[in-house]
Amino acid sequence: MRHILMSQQFDIERLTRLFTLADRINELRNTPEGETRLSKLLAGKKMFLLFYEESTRTRTSFWTAGTDLGMRVVWTEDARKFSSAAKGETLEHTIRILCGYRYDVIVLRHSETGAAARAAGVIDNYNSRGEIKPTMLVNAGDGEGQHPTQALLDLYTIRQELHRLDDLVIVIGGDLAHGRTCRSLVYLMAKFSGIRFVFISPPELAMRGDILAHLDEHTIPYRTEIDLSVVISAADVVYWTRIQRERLPDPELYPKVRDRYRIGETDVASMKPGAILMHPLPIAGEIAKEVDEMPCAAYFRQADNGLPIRMALLCEAFGVTL
Ligand code: CP
Repeated sequence: MRHILMSQQFDIERLTRLFTLADRINELRNTPEGETRLSKLLAGKKMFLLFYEESTRTRTSFWTAGTDLGMRVVWTEDARKFSSAAKGETLEHTIRILCGYRYDVIVLRHSETGAAARAAGVIDNYNSRGEIKPTMLVNAGDGEGQHPTQALLDLYTIRQELHRLDDLVIVIGGDLAHGRTCRSLVYLMAKFSGIRFVFISPPELAMRGDILAHLDEHTIPYRTEIDLSVVISAADVVYWTRIQRERLPDPELYPKVRDRYRIGETDVASMKPGAILMHPLPIAGEIAKEVDEMPCAAYFRQADNGLPIRMALLCEAFGVTL
């Protein structure tokens, strides 16, 4: 089993395998017999959800994915407060303890960029002792770093909605400086051919240089704009994100940019037929509620896809084929 730390770990062949597995899981989830079959696949396996930051979708869908596959799943209710982190215990010590309790999978969300790699290092050290049950780490979002399983469900959604992952104009907007879902999405989409990116953000929240350097290195076209209206009609996918108020170095910035980076019905009306509006969620006002019921609003279908994709990932980790 290999840890899942960043979206660059996935090549097109592996993505295709995972998406086929997720399709098959969706078929099985539609019948009682299929559900029963799924519920036995990972019996005897254990997963711990170690979340130091808030989450609705990632934590719940991992919990549901694990239990629907027959795993025993334990989670902490805010590990900052209810684990011994509150008494000063390091992440490294907490991870070492969970390894000793023989969890097969630890899913970690943490506010520090690089926390997932640090945790994986502790696990590798423990596993190298030749323990009979190696542990695998899944990065469920580390600070401003990455959120690779979100990118997997994002691509699965684009494939489902648009029936292709090549030759797309992808407009990514909002708080790109702090958006780990955006970073993971760019790394993953950049593996496909004919992709063009447009990044929309206030200058203070622009996409980080490491992502732009990656695109330059692979000669993938992109441009940056501050205003969605100049590009919205060309987009196949508009991927909008929340201004992450809690991560802004200057609190004065939020009221200045909040209303300018808000999508309403008139913006959506400019989208071309068949184009989709995505969002990793949660939405905190940056998409008007009237848009929720519009056919192009794919964000609830996108969130739904978190379950079959995370089930597929767990099946893959344990070599289950269907
Ligand atoms: N998209 C996402 O990661 O949502 P949660 O923060 O609710 O898990």
